[in-house]
Amino acid sequence: MEKLDRDVVIVGAGATGLTAAARLREAGWSVVVVEARDRVGGRLLTDEIDGQMFEVGGQWVSPDQTALLETLDELGLRTYPRYRGGESVYVGRDGDARRFTGDIFPASERTQGEIERLIGILDPLVAQIDVAAPWDHPSATQFDHVSFDAWLREQSDDAEARDNIALFIADAMLTKPAHAFSLLQALLMAASAGSFSNLVDADFILDRRVVGGLQQVPLLLAESLDPGDLRLSQPVRTIEWSDTGATVHTDTLSVSARHVIVAVPPNLYSRIDYSPPLPRLRQQMQQHQSLGLVIKVHATYATPFWRAAGLSGTAFSPYQVVHEAYDNSNYGEERGTLVGFVSDEKADALFRLPAAERKAAILASLASYYGPEALEPAVYYESDWAAEEWTQGAYAASFDLGGLTRYGALQLQPVGAMRFGSSDLAAEGYQHVDGAIRVGRRLAAEVIDASTSS
Ligand code: FDA
Repeated sequence: MEKLDRDVVIVGAGATGLTAAARLREAGWSVVVVEARDRVGGRLLTDEIDGQMFEVGGQWVSPDQTALLETLDELGLRTYPRYRGGESVYVGRDGDARRFTGDIFPASERTQGEIERLIGILDPLVAQIDVAAPWDHPSATQFDHVSFDAWLREQSDDAEARDNIALFIADAMLTKPAHAFSLLQALLMAASAGSFSNLVDADFILDRRVVGGLQQVPLLLAESLDPGDLRLSQPVRTIEWSDTGATVHTDTLSVSARHVIVAVPPNLYSRIDYSPPLPRLRQQMQQHQSLGLVIKVHATYATPFWRAAGLSGTAFSPYQVVHEAYDNSNYGEERGTLVGFVSDEKADALFRLPAAERKAAILASLASYYGPEALEPAVYYESDWAAEEWTQGAYAASFDLGGLTRYGALQLQPVGAMRFGSSDLAAEGYQHVDGAIRVGRRLAAEVIDASTSS
């Protein structure tokens, strides 16, 4: 058993853990980062599949994500805009594909009016939410006890309007059905992106990508560490902790430190044994937070054929297996790539099918937006994060009904020498890389403050 001594041990080499590590190193602290996988990046992975570069995990950057934009700048990474020339496509309840421009789908006049009315109710509610403490809203308990789906049913009798509003939070963000999370969780999701209208505006929320891939962020952050201070393929099994320090154990390594940062998603906290056990409400809390489920589908074609047909590649439908899809062609490539997403219960259903049938169902859905040429990609790949032992879902974690008000504040508190954090616990940038960077910075600052004040 190899033994190490450091000021801080960080569990998890995702964007959160590596941001914290880089900040602590800059402040002169000794750190070691212990990572279960044989690579850094966690939910960021830029990979080559059959000769084609794909962003298997996170990829988009929006203009409000200033922590991420600053980091990209510091690391010398360049961004480029998502292709968005031409018209978008919406497939309605009747199954017909209709072209449109702007944010509001071309449903009937009444449904369009209802969508705009619901956005008009949601935006002011979202503006009242403090992203750092949504549980402090005067109506937090009431909002946390009603599902987003039930609340939408109270607001409108127009099913197509409700389905479209739900899509932006349920299918597209939390990747859980709208009956499985609360109105408060939905408001937090929107508030963390600035407003509900921002979520509806694909040109805002999915604005830019990083030339060469977003995984370069963790890869370059890791370069700031001494090679011996990044330990890959070392799942942390046990943390022995007290108020003054901790020892973190993997199968072959023990690291003693004054502080521990557990930078893993909350659904994986219980993969680690704690000695002594975590306080009772922390043990309870981690049973109320779970990751959503989404299949990210990549399909590359000889050319971006949809552009020639006057289409932007942007497509939506609550009634399609692929509920949203975009032009995801890589910077400077002649080939065209579409990316599509299959969420929550639709993903459950597709995962029950053999791989070939799943692929056929997904491509048929793409064809309903872009025509029959979509059926024959040169390269096809499904990102399946639910099958990854060290993630177990996508994109990120959210609470079940009532969980945010019961445990939201508690999740941010240290436990002895341990602090927990990941993008799943972010305020601004919640569930996004921007949030991971903000949480990494906050945890590093808290560790430094704790030592100066003790
Ligand atoms: P992350 O999960 O990345 O890192 C945690 C690390 O801990 C992992 O490396 C894991 O292996 C490790 N670990 C876990 N248990 C361990 C143990 N016991 N011992 C040691 N190590 C352990 N965001 C965005 O901004 N724009 C986008 O477009 C998207 N799109 C998107 C698509 C898909 C398919 C996914 C899966 C995710 C996104 N995201 C995104 C979300 C974004 O990728 C995510 O929020 C951050 O990368 C999370 O970074 P963290 O470091 O917080 O966790």
